[in-house]
Amino acid sequence: MEASLIESFGGPELVTTKDIALREPLPDEVVVRVEAAGVNPLDLKIIAGYMQQVFPVALPYVPGTDFSGTVEVVGANVIHLKRGDRVVGRTSPNAGGAFASKLIIAASSLCVMPGDMSFEQAAALPTALGTARHALFDIGRLQPGERVLIHAAAGGVGSMAVQLAHHAGAYVIATASGRNIEHVRMLGADKAIDYRSEDFTSLRDIDLVLDPIGGETLERSWQVLGEGGRIATLVNFAIEARDGHAGDFVFFSDAAAVLPEAMHMFRADRLQIVVDSVFPLAETRSVLERVAMGHARGKVLVRMSDA
Ligand SMILES: NC(=O)c1ccc[n+]([C@@H]2O[C@H](COP(=O)([O-])OP(=O)(O)OC[C@H]3O[C@@H](n4cnc5c(N)ncnc54)[C@H](OP(=O)(O)O)[C@@H]3O)[C@@H](O)[C@H]2O)c1
Repeated sequence: MEASLIESFGGPELVTTKDIALREPLPDEVVVRVEAAGVNPLDLKIIAGYMQQVFPVALPYVPGTDFSGTVEVVGANVIHLKRGDRVVGRTSPNAGGAFASKLIIAASSLCVMPGDMSFEQAAALPTALGTARHALFDIGRLQPGERVLIHAAAGGVGSMAVQLAHHAGAYVIATASGRNIEHVRMLGADKAIDYRSEDFTSLRDIDLVLDPIGGETLERSWQVLGEGGRIATLVNFAIEARDGHAGDFVFFSDAAAVLPEAMHMFRADRLQIVVDSVFPLAETRSVLERVAMGHARGKVLVRMSDA
């Protein structure tokens, strides 16, 4: 099978595309012919070697966690999937494997896609939607009527978070650059702030801040919290409560638990899946460079074939 891989840690320029062997699936596993893969900033951090404490990986390593495709082979114990099923899933970051024409995964990790969902749309979902949901509701405890500030609202996680918070009945304030202001409003933001020309710290009485940025953005976010206000950050492991406000790191891991709900939202026409760009597998370097720039609108994807 064809796979993009690294043999040492470093930047996207170290990724090469090669033919490699695929092992046999175990009885509880399936072989998926991958059609599309979603790219996440985590892929870059793993390739760089920054995540070895949290997600140790062995080299050579095929990056990519989010994927969609077609079931090609089912293990002897698998009864709920059959050859030809269209599926979406997320591998563990330690395993990776999505930037390849085929992968092997536990059947229990997969979710069958609706017939009218494209492979690109499906591959955009697992990490972005799962993280947004976990951050807003499990960690952030967002309630209807609360005021939520969502930073990087045009990005992969942010664009899902805006929609989920809007549908949950929250008042949604989003930060984005000027070119994305109308876009985040269209996704469901009640108010949009251009972070380059406006100062979001003029806001008050925010109940929850979702922070995918860290650094100065996170530091300044404490100022906008009201009584009982809290911050859920995707990037600062070391965050601690401050001045009576909760501050928690979000660690997303269980995509299989959230994908069925995502499929339901899509069928109910309550989920807009925003695709920034699509690259062929042979251009995995370019795809990673696009994400590294930090200004994708929605998801950047890899497409395995023209089928
Ligand atoms: N802890 C976890 O479990 C977890 C899970 C998922 C992701 N993450 C992390 O969360 C971060 C975001 O992930 P992502 O997939 O959403 O990234 P992404 O899609 O690459 O985010 C890109 C977006 O960030 C926006 N942006 C950049 N700087 C900004 C700023 N100062 N203020 C507001 N918006 C800004 C850009 O908007 P403009 O183009 O308009 O500037 C762009 O739309 C990454 O570091 C990722 O590793 C953590």
